[in-house]
Amino acid sequence: MSVISVQNLVKKYGDINAVDGISFEVDEGTIFGFLGPNGAGKTTTINVLCTLLSATSGKAFINGYDCAEKPSEVRKSIGIVFQDPTLDKDLTARENLVFHAYLYGVKKSDIKPRVEDALKFVQLYERRNDLVKKFSGGMKRRLEVARGLIHRPRVLFLDEPTLGLDPQSRANLWEVISEMPKKHKVTIFMTTHYMEEAEVCNRIAIIDNGKIIAGGSPDELKKTVGGDVISLKTTDNERSKKEIKKLFDIDAEEKGGELYLTSNRGDACIPELIRGLADKVLSVKLQRPTLNDVFLKLTGKAIRDEEISGMGTIKEEVRAYRRRR
Ligand SMILES: Nc1ncnc2c1ncn2[C@@H]1O[C@H](COP(=O)(O)OP(=O)(O)O)[C@@H](O)[C@H]1O
Ligand SMILES: [Mg+2]
Repeated sequence: MSVISVQNLVKKYGDINAVDGISFEVDEGTIFGFLGPNGAGKTTTINVLCTLLSATSGKAFINGYDCAEKPSEVRKSIGIVFQDPTLDKDLTARENLVFHAYLYGVKKSDIKPRVEDALKFVQLYERRNDLVKKFSGGMKRRLEVARGLIHRPRVLFLDEPTLGLDPQSRANLWEVISEMPKKHKVTIFMTTHYMEEAEVCNRIAIIDNGKIIAGGSPDELKKTVGGDVISLKTTDNERSKKEIKKLFDIDAEEKGGELYLTSNRGDACIPELIRGLADKVLSVKLQRPTLNDVFLKLTGKAIRDEEISGMGTIKEEVRAYRRRR
C-alpha cells in the first residue's frame, strides 16, 4: 500500500518552478530516497508533503490524508528531521524528547518508556542528561531522529540527514536509519545528494530542476547505464579486439591504450575473456556502474562536483563501524 502518494505536484516561487509536476508513490515500510543536486527541489517537496508550504497545483496524500485539506491529520502521521538542526541546545537530550512528547500529546504514562526506548535506539541513553550544546554533529542528528519517532509517526521525513557529518557519524546514523522500518514500523522519506546513501534505499527518485527524471531500485537504475564496464590491458590490442568480436560479438573500444567493453554480466564474461585471449591479457578491471553514472547518462553532468575522498560505499562504512564497536 502507498503511504505517500504525489500526483503532478507543482510549486512555483514567482517565475521559478521549484517543483515542476512530479508524481510518485512510496510503499509502506520502505526507505525512499530523493536524490538530486542542490537546488533540485528536494526540500521544497518535503515542505509541501509536511504541510509547511502549500502546492501551486497537484495533489499529495500522506497516510491517505490530503496534505491541502487535512493538514492536522497529516501532521499527526509524520515526523520530520529538517536540513538545519532544530534542537533546544540548552536542554538535555532527554528533556528535548520529553518536550516533544508533550507537544504531540503523547499519553503521560507512555512518555518515559518511549523517551528511554528512543534514546537507546539511537545509542544516546548514556548521554541522556547531558546538554545538547555539548553534543557532536552526529549525536545531534541521532537525537533529532529519536525525537522524530517519539509520537510514533507512520512516515519520517529526513532532509539531508547526514550533511556535514564525518564518515563514521554518517555510518552510525545510517545504521540507525536502515533499522527503522522494521523496528519502528515507519516509512522513511529521505533526501540526499550523496550517491552512496541512495544505494541503501529500497527505491529512489532522481530529481533535477524540479522534475523526476528516473525512478526505481538502485539496481534497476544502474542497469539503465548498459551493464558493467570491463577494461583490459593487452599485449596486442588489434588482435584482441578481433577475438573479442569473435567471442562475444561486441566491438571493444580503445581509449588511452586500453580496451573497453560493456556487458550485462561482466563477472561471468571475464573468465571467458581470459581463456579466449589467452596470453595476450596483461590486466582486467571490472567496474560496476554507480548512481553517478546514471545521473551522468540522464543529464550529462555529475550529481555533485566534489566527491568525499577516501569514502567507500556506505555499506562498507556501516560494516566497518560494526566491527569497531
Ligand atoms: N523561499 C524561496 N523563495 C524563492 N525561491 C526558492 C525558495 N526556496 C527555494 N527556492 C528555489 O527553489 C529551487 C529548489 O530549492 P530546494 O527545494 O531548496 O532544493 P534542494 O533542497 O533540492 O537543494 C531552487 O532554485 C531554490 O533557489
Ligand atoms: Mg534542500
